Amino acid sequence: MRSPKDFFRPLAVGAPDPVREIPFRPSRMIHFFDPSNAKMAAKVPDIAGKVDVLLGNLEDAVQADRKEAARAGLVDIAKATDFGDTQLWVRVNSLDSPWGLDDLMTLVREIGDKLDVIMVPKVEGAEDIHYVDRLLAQLEAKAGLRRPLLVHAILETARGVANVEEIAGASPRMQGLSLGPADLAASRRMKTTRVGGGHPGYLVRTDPVGEDLNAGRQTSQQDLWHYTVARMVDACAANGILPYYGPFGDIRDTVACEDQFRNAFLLGCVGAWSLHPVQIEIARRVFSPEPADVRWARKVIAAMGDGTGAVMIDGKMQDDATVKQCRVVAELADALAARDPELAAAYAATDED
Ligand code: GLV
Ligand code: MG
Repeated sequence: MRSPKDFFRPLAVGAPDPVREIPFRPSRMIHFFDPSNAKMAAKVPDIAGKVDVLLGNLEDAVQADRKEAARAGLVDIAKATDFGDTQLWVRVNSLDSPWGLDDLMTLVREIGDKLDVIMVPKVEGAEDIHYVDRLLAQLEAKAGLRRPLLVHAILETARGVANVEEIAGASPRMQGLSLGPADLAASRRMKTTRVGGGHPGYLVRTDPVGEDLNAGRQTSQQDLWHYTVARMVDACAANGILPYYGPFGDIRDTVACEDQFRNAFLLGCVGAWSLHPVQIEIARRVFSPEPADVRWARKVIAAMGDGTGAVMIDGKMQDDATVKQCRVVAELADALAARDPELAAAYAATDED
């Protein structure tokens, strides 16, 4: 047992104090790049200005013989680049891999002051977060860091999903969770062969209309990820941390990508991964509330005064619960507008209507 007081004490002498709240920083798209790929690395300064989060990926999709080059590449890029107010994250290799320990030791020592969040893949339970928590405290103390690094876990094993609440609450460093649909599908022994998205075989069908079981029956594809995203959102909200959709692998299918991202947004997620520049714009569009919704939210908030009682607006009943929903939208709009001048203008225009 750990007392609540201990929870907010550093886990190593000289390490920075843990944070008490996870600050909300816009993170609509977590843009992945491979730091071992010189062509991609050269684009980093340009892309940094276009995304909320830039993530150096050291794990899957980086070949085994490129792991060390990727780690060294990220160190060089981080030292050479001014990221402005764009966050820099890293996805380290998993804790059971030959590279995970060296990733953490090197990155905290070399660029700990530049990194915001460490994404840890294949987290199975609170014990994985406790291990990283203590290790990071030791490394932060050694490196003389003044600001604690935050931790983001990928939900991509069946055991991880079963333990999602305890993972979300395992450390004050926990910043958020991402759905990892590709590894999760494998871990669950699902029969898909894709990275995220739906499947035409996963559907429901209307009842038969006569003797012919095939005639006149509508089918509707269902969302394979609904259960996991909803569980992840609850675990995050209950622990004051942020949920994200993960990767959508069919880069060409921008339409289905937008649908998956939007479902996640409507269910409570704040962002998704972008694996290709085309997905940056999709995430920006989807995870920024529509100006019309912001206008409506502000109208309800203004009409509700101190937030109690009930009023009718355009024939729709508003009360304490709707004003709370509207505050979520309006506060998100304000936070995004502070970072995104185009959105600020679109939201300001709604005030003038
Ligand atoms: C992401 O890492 C995934 O496995 O989907
Ligand atoms: Mg994965």
